[in-house]
Amino acid sequence: MSEIITDIVDSPLQHLAIIMDGNGRWAKQRKLPRLAGHQQGAEAVTRIVDECVKRKIRYLSLFAFSSENWGRPQSEVDALMGLLLQFLVSQQQQMVAKGIRLQVIGDRLRLSESVQLALADAEKKTVAGNTMTLILALSYGGRDEIMRAAKQMAQRAIAGELDINQLNNEKFATFLDTSEFPDPDLLIRTSGEVRISNFLLWQTAYSELYFTDVLWPDFGAVELGNAIDVYMCRQRRFGLTNEQLEE
Ligand code: IPE
Ligand code: IPE
Ligand code: MG
Repeated sequence: MSEIITDIVDSPLQHLAIIMDGNGRWAKQRKLPRLAGHQQGAEAVTRIVDECVKRKIRYLSLFAFSSENWGRPQSEVDALMGLLLQFLVSQQQQMVAKGIRLQVIGDRLRLSESVQLALADAEKKTVAGNTMTLILALSYGGRDEIMRAAKQMAQRAIAGELDINQLNNEKFATFLDTSEFPDPDLLIRTSGEVRISNFLLWQTAYSELYFTDVLWPDFGAVELGNAIDVYMCRQRRFGLTNEQLEE
C-alpha cells in the first residue's frame, strides 16, 4: 500500500475532475426511484474523497449539479438539494478533521438561500484545510462560467480598471470561478456517456479524458485506481512532439 502511495506522490496527478453520472440508471436497474440512485451516489462521493486523500491528490473537482439540471422535474431538483444539505451536515466535521477544504464553483445565486448559507458556512469552517481541496460544481455550467467572467471583465474595462490590450489567457482565467486552482490533469466520466456536458470547458483544454461504463454509485477505489493507471501511461504533449518531450 505505502508503495502505491509513494508512486502517486511522485505522480503529476495534482487535480482530478469527475463527471459523476449514472445515478438514475443505477436506480432503474434495481427498479428503485431515482432518489435511491442519488443517495448511493452520495455514498460514492465520500468513498472517492477518502481515496483521493489517501492518494495525496491535491484537488478533486466533482460535477454535482449542472446549470442544465435545473430543468429536471422539480421533485428531483428538491431531492438533490436535500441530499446536498444532508451531505454538508454529515460531512463537515469529517472534512475539518481530514484537512479537506471545500470550495464551490457555479452560479450560486440560483441556489436557494438555505443552500447558499450552508455552502458558505461549510466553506468557512473548512477554510484551513490543506490536505485536499474539494471543489463542488453546483449550478455549474462551463459556458455560464465563461459568460459571467466575460461580463465581469467588460465591466472592469468600462470602469477603466482594465486595459483590454493587456488581456491574455492567464488574465482571463483569473475571472473564472476556478481562478485559485490549477487545471485538471485528468477528467473521468462514469456511466458510458462520452461527452463533457458543459463541465470545465476552459479548464479541460489539455486534460486527459477517461470514460468508463461503470455507473457512479458503483465507482470505487478499484475503478479509480484503473483510471489513474491509464492516466500514468499517457504522454501529455501540449502540442509538442514526442522527441521534444523526451529531450
Ligand atoms: C448524475 O446521475 C447525477 C446528476 C446529474 C445530478 P444522473 O441523474 O444523470 O443519472 P442518469 O444519467 O439518469 O443515469
Ligand atoms: C452531467 O450529467 C451533470 C452532472 C453529472 C452533474 P447529466 O446526466 O446531466 O448529463 P447529460 O444530460 O447526460 O449530458
Ligand atoms: Mg446523467
